Amino acid sequence: MGLVEPGLKSMIGQQRDFHRGFAGLEHEHSGWVDDVRGKIPPDLNGTFFRNGPGTMKAGEQQYGHWFDGPGMISAVTFVEGRAHFRNRYVRTPQYLKDKAAGKICSRGFGTQIEGGLPANFLRPMANTANTSVSWHGEKLCAFYEGGQPYRLDPSTLETMGKELYEGGLTSARTMSAHGKINPKTGHQINFGINITGLGLTGLKLTLDVYDINLQGRIARTCRIPLSEFPFLHDFGLTENYALFLFSSISFSLAGPLLGTKTLKDTMGYRMGQPVQGIIVDLRTMRVAQTFELPPGIVVHFGNSCEVGDEIVTDLIQSNDVQNFSGLGDVFSIDRLTGGPIYRYRCNVKTGEVRHEFYCHAPHGEFPAWNRRTTGCRSKFLYYVAALDNGTPYTFNALVKLDTASGTYVTRDHGRDRYTSETLFAPGSRASSEDDGYLLSFVYDAATHLTEIVILDARNPEDEIAAVKLSHHVPFGFHGHFTDQVFLSP
Ligand SMILES: [Fe+2]
Repeated sequence: MGLVEPGLKSMIGQQRDFHRGFAGLEHEHSGWVDDVRGKIPPDLNGTFFRNGPGTMKAGEQQYGHWFDGPGMISAVTFVEGRAHFRNRYVRTPQYLKDKAAGKICSRGFGTQIEGGLPANFLRPMANTANTSVSWHGEKLCAFYEGGQPYRLDPSTLETMGKELYEGGLTSARTMSAHGKINPKTGHQINFGINITGLGLTGLKLTLDVYDINLQGRIARTCRIPLSEFPFLHDFGLTENYALFLFSSISFSLAGPLLGTKTLKDTMGYRMGQPVQGIIVDLRTMRVAQTFELPPGIVVHFGNSCEVGDEIVTDLIQSNDVQNFSGLGDVFSIDRLTGGPIYRYRCNVKTGEVRHEFYCHAPHGEFPAWNRRTTGCRSKFLYYVAALDNGTPYTFNALVKLDTASGTYVTRDHGRDRYTSETLFAPGSRASSEDDGYLLSFVYDAATHLTEIVILDARNPEDEIAAVKLSHHVPFGFHGHFTDQVFLSP
């Protein structure tokens, strides 16, 4: 199952086709990039890390899902108006074994090992370390939500081993790829979904919440029992609360645990099932409130804050199963456009929830904001969208949404150009929330090359500069910008 999919293989061969952006980047590059369109702002200083599958193949075999390719970190270091690029694979057991063997040796979210049941029976899913990357507590870590993070050298991107936070994590406890850092305390709040045992009614499942301090130690944790395995990818963080929403998606764990099926095979949409909400008070590490919302699918959150007794959070919620299910077979999708942007107001005391709909704003994905405002009131939300510019398939533009007025502006990246997640990078002397830059990896399907595009966050309609790589970087997931300049000697 999932091996050598003819769809991707043939599409990679076609000119100007979006699917070529999934092709692997086998070479590990390192060097200054002097081919720049425009001028890199002198007050843009720091390192832009980004994670994603570096290849979709092991030898001639193809991983069965986009989520299953081995993690590769890209680092773009901006210093004194110049840019340095480096990419390096995370040396996970999956990467090392598959590369040495020239074939797929590990199971994944949508990948089985060739050889049927004997090859897959009771074999665990690989930790690909391919979903996000974060600099926190003087540690650079690559994350995959089905396992533990891998620590990397921030200057060389060399893999240093699994990060277990001084024993706070074990091989039996997972950590998500969407930890968030409270800018006031410096603590990272993260979570994991774990199997903790076998009870009379089946597997015992928990939501574990982690509070990681500036020393990189899990200082506090709490364990919340769950009745079934949820779809939980991200959460909302305020100064005092963590907000979790369990989407109307179900999994069956028996087949994936035994090795007869993949998790992707068992994923089902229960569009009659309400979204379940849990609010955790981070001061007591206890559940403060639970509530239900109409059925839907929530993948990513924007920023969240507290206003009186309410948690106010912006998020992308889709009721379009067809659009979301495109993720299940992304190699042959026709269209992936994300979902509509909502603002929810969840009352911690009463459990009452109100919502507003940014109905005029384009649908999209990968919400981003000025991380210096995480958990506090913020005005601007940035995300990627698929505008009607003659470029089919998926995200080709940036949207800057003013959440106070509902007005927005867009930056169209142009024909045949596809953008990955856009991140906000504050300028060295930033004086306002949107005083900074928006950074995106933009893949040009016509040339099969990638640029790191720099926009002025105050006025993103016009490009400031683009760092033109001599190669492409495959489509990826999440990144992190730090104002620390990392370069190897
Ligand atoms: Fe994500």
